[in-house]
Amino acid sequence: MRIIGTGSALPEKVVTNDMLAGFLDTSDNWITTRTGIRTRRLLSTETLRELALEAAKKAIASSGLTPADIDYLICSNVANSYVSPSLGSIILGQLGCCCPTFDMNGACAGLVYSLDVADAFLKTGRARNILVVAAEQPSRFCDWHDRSTSVLFGDGASALVVTGGEGFFDFRLTGNTHTDVMYYKRSLEPTPYDRVEERTQPLVMEGREVFRLAVESCIEDVDVLLERNGLKGEDIDLFLLHQANMRIIECIRQHLEQPKEKFPTNIQKYGNTSSASVGILIDELSRAGVLKEGATILISTFGGGFVTAAALLKWSEILYGKEA
Ligand code: COA
Repeated sequence: MRIIGTGSALPEKVVTNDMLAGFLDTSDNWITTRTGIRTRRLLSTETLRELALEAAKKAIASSGLTPADIDYLICSNVANSYVSPSLGSIILGQLGCCCPTFDMNGACAGLVYSLDVADAFLKTGRARNILVVAAEQPSRFCDWHDRSTSVLFGDGASALVVTGGEGFFDFRLTGNTHTDVMYYKRSLEPTPYDRVEERTQPLVMEGREVFRLAVESCIEDVDVLLERNGLKGEDIDLFLLHQANMRIIECIRQHLEQPKEKFPTNIQKYGNTSSASVGILIDELSRAGVLKEGATILISTFGGGFVTAAALLKWSEILYGKEA
């Protein structure tokens, strides 16, 4: 499988740390030093569906395919106002695609989980061109009186078009049950038989434990992928890591003993956009010409569950309408 199109979309509204300090007991200094985040984009006048559509349209346009060529849409999304239909179904018609679709909830690792499924569909001939969209509004999971969670997140969407080819050459996905360290619960309707009261509970997170799990498990993924492909850190041109906390990225970088230039980030501008994060990074770097033909890239992501998903690939340049 290889990536032939990329897109991303972000809300207009830029929210600075100082703006948050206006109503939360926090400061620009605390947020910047503990997380690396300076601003985030939050949905206000637009909708998540619009962001998802914009990212998807850009990805299809850059792939050189038409919507009719897409024969599967996988949409990574943790939550939106609809439980059913899926976000994929909601955007499918406006995209002009007519194909099967489903939503993937792999938390913040959902984009790479979706790519792993897409890879399997392509290998078995179930599809030829797959659109993977990751669209998230984590700002709506948070209690905006809770300074320990609300400052971390931003909204955004990314999309990738994938097809058969020589790109991805290994994946590593893991999952284990640590549901208590990070969760967002929604209420369900009571029935005459099941009256257990379920109230919506905004994001609950044990920050330090999530930090520890993230560093430990991403390092394991990276080490396993390198070892089983006979590679060393030096052989990787770029490490594209889930943009959750600059200190998590720095811990993984120090373990690998690789230079900072190999770890591009955009968390400073966007915060943690959940599963959209690594796709937004890929789109920005690809359009900026940073992802060179043949570059070896290691992607590593993690999320609630606790789940992780990492991948190794060789990059094929995308032209975005420019001459070859
Ligand atoms: N502003 C100011 N102070 C804050 C604050 C904020 N926004 N949030 C928490 N604090 C305070 C705490 O109350 C605590 O105060 P105390 O020492 O008086 O009790 C102090 O800062 C330290 O809190 P702690 O939680 O130990 O900080 P930390 O260095 O672990 O950083 C996180 C907190 C959340 C930034 C960090 O743990 C983290 O990023 N974890 C991973 C989260 C993540 O990635 N989630 C998404 C996964 S996909």
